[in-house]
Amino acid sequence: MPDKILVTSALPYANGPIHIGHLVEYIQTDIYVRFHRMAGRRCLYFCADDTHGTAVMLSAKAAGISPEEWIAQVHKEHVEDFSRFLISFDNYYSTHSPENRYFSELIFQRLKAAGSIIKRPVEQAYCEHCRMSLPDRYIRGTCPRCKAPDQYGDCCEVCGATYRPTDLLDPYCATCKTKPTTRTSEHYFFRLADYQDQLRALICSGYTPKTVANKLEEWFAAGLRDWDISRDGPYFGFLIPGEKDKYFYVWLDAPIGYMASAKNYFDRMGEDFSEVWPGPSSASPTTDWQIHHFIGKDIMYFHALFWPAMLIGAGFKAPDRLFVHGFLTVNGEKMSKSRGTFIKAQTFAKHLNPEFLRYYYASKLSDNLDDIDLSTEDLVSKINADLVGKFANLASRSIQLLHAGLRGRLGQLDPTGSNLFGTLVQAREEIASDYEGLRFSSVVRRVLDLADQADRFLEARKPWDLVKTAPEQARDVLTAGINAVKCLATYLKPVIPTFAAKIEQMLCVGPLDLSNIDQPLQGTVIGPFQRLFERVDPKEVQRMIEETKSSGDQQPPSPTADHAPAMFKPECTIEDFDKLDIRVARVISAERVQGADKLLRLLIDVGGTQKTVFAGIAKAYQPEQLTGRLVVYLANLRPRKMRFGLSEGMILAAGPGDGQVYLLAPDPGAQPGQKVT
Ligand code: MSP
Ligand code: ZN
Repeated sequence: MPDKILVTSALPYANGPIHIGHLVEYIQTDIYVRFHRMAGRRCLYFCADDTHGTAVMLSAKAAGISPEEWIAQVHKEHVEDFSRFLISFDNYYSTHSPENRYFSELIFQRLKAAGSIIKRPVEQAYCEHCRMSLPDRYIRGTCPRCKAPDQYGDCCEVCGATYRPTDLLDPYCATCKTKPTTRTSEHYFFRLADYQDQLRALICSGYTPKTVANKLEEWFAAGLRDWDISRDGPYFGFLIPGEKDKYFYVWLDAPIGYMASAKNYFDRMGEDFSEVWPGPSSASPTTDWQIHHFIGKDIMYFHALFWPAMLIGAGFKAPDRLFVHGFLTVNGEKMSKSRGTFIKAQTFAKHLNPEFLRYYYASKLSDNLDDIDLSTEDLVSKINADLVGKFANLASRSIQLLHAGLRGRLGQLDPTGSNLFGTLVQAREEIASDYEGLRFSSVVRRVLDLADQADRFLEARKPWDLVKTAPEQARDVLTAGINAVKCLATYLKPVIPTFAAKIEQMLCVGPLDLSNIDQPLQGTVIGPFQRLFERVDPKEVQRMIEETKSSGDQQPPSPTADHAPAMFKPECTIEDFDKLDIRVARVISAERVQGADKLLRLLIDVGGTQKTVFAGIAKAYQPEQLTGRLVVYLANLRPRKMRFGLSEGMILAAGPGDGQVYLLAPDPGAQPGQKVT
């Protein structure tokens, strides 16, 4: 193992909250990082929000704020969520940063200079109404194979067919339902195939685990295709140098965000980043740092192929290791809002101790790509049986008894006590190698087994009886018990750091780590007992699930692709819509309202009947402008008595609020009284 490691987790999209699916990765990475730090290595953990792309742009727009404001808000929430779960980043940065812009431009220029970037025209779907090109996920339509309606532009969720958006029958824009047109535009492509040999060599050198390497061979066999790295505006991202309205595709600058986050950290620390991650301008091409990435299996292509190829092409050091994990299922099924299993980090932390999830994931995680299942029943039983029943119980029994009968002073390890301690210390190498190899479930099994041995020792020596007859013997027995707790807490420290910190405090010792694990505590006085874990009532888990079911959030769309835009209201049916009687109307007259400077009184004609409506549009429209105009009118809104008279319905308008509104207008030709359908 190198003694300096730069570790990253994938950068979460700044488009929604952190949920327990994401946490598989951040907890896995954090355990790895904490282990290396405990083993005495310099291990730094970098991450950032992935802020660019269509999804963020549209979410911000829908929320009526700028993308910058949107990502600032999300950043704050993500940081809070991660700190709740004790994720120990050294820097949690943003891809919308000067460092990231700098490296994105630099890498692009260098790839271009190397001849690996070409430009060619692309036909793309365009929405004339939204005035933007539509990424695959923003076009919907009927599946060309099974004819299922409302499928995404890249694949059918009903029959599993994959196709190009142009193959969809009856395509429409996912945002506004308009039929897209086709436009041709020049795009930049990265010639991935240029790097096939270097990528092969990297993979042979052990960049990825074997299973991933096999997958990559399939991709090599299928042929590496050019990668489209540009997007036309409007787009939230970095402008491509020399272009007016073309941006780097979010996936180009996202992994560069790893570098940017690290660079920002090393600059602040006054250290030379180019010695950590050597690049074209470094004094030396070698470094004693290794770069380890953690990702989920859905984003392998980006990290196993595009990212190292970009680095190699631009003259930067390629990463050393890529660790890939599987996806989370809950009770054997995909996370789902309707089942209440799309649990946000924040919701989990409200109901259960975040260390419970850390422990549970550790007990399930291994070095492969298998999906991991969170069974809610199993979660409760592991918390109660292991955390409460074994680790906390062992600590509380021995520490409390030493205080109660023996004034909290430790004795010496007697021969059987030394034996027990020796057994615990001896597990160090195996546990360390399990941590390094990401076999966390094996770590947990070993530690549980050691706890059982400590338990059996206490059961056999019965200090609770000895304390009455032979207190000094009891003191020595408890000393062995407490030293066992010290070892167990050390081994579990990367998984449940708060538990370990409490043990450190109670035992009045400095930071527990692998180098001091073999030094027994003897003859010292320990501190007061602190409560550790509390039993969990399965009803608490049920409450968490109910809360998730009833929260208004939408289920975030699937990763990798550009996401569908955020929606604000739960789905409604055509029957729901039919309850609204919306009509075309013509304004007969409009006037200001005395004493209400936001309101205009409108007299409208709804196909022969006249109605009076008060509309909050006085800040945006002069009354004279409105006479004769067609408007959209909600006719069956319950009439409202106002100070100035009765308002019979409502005129529809859009806008960010605060007086800024835009009236909706039917196209010419529509007649007053016609129903909006
Ligand atoms: N923004 C990209 C990553 C860019 S990295 C340069 C992205 N973001 S994400 O928010 O969708 O996912 C972040 C990480 O969480 C990914 O590694 C992804 O695999 C992982 N997970 C997201 N949902 C998950 C589960 N349900 N289960 C396990 N991991 C999951 O992808
Ligand atoms: Zn549209």
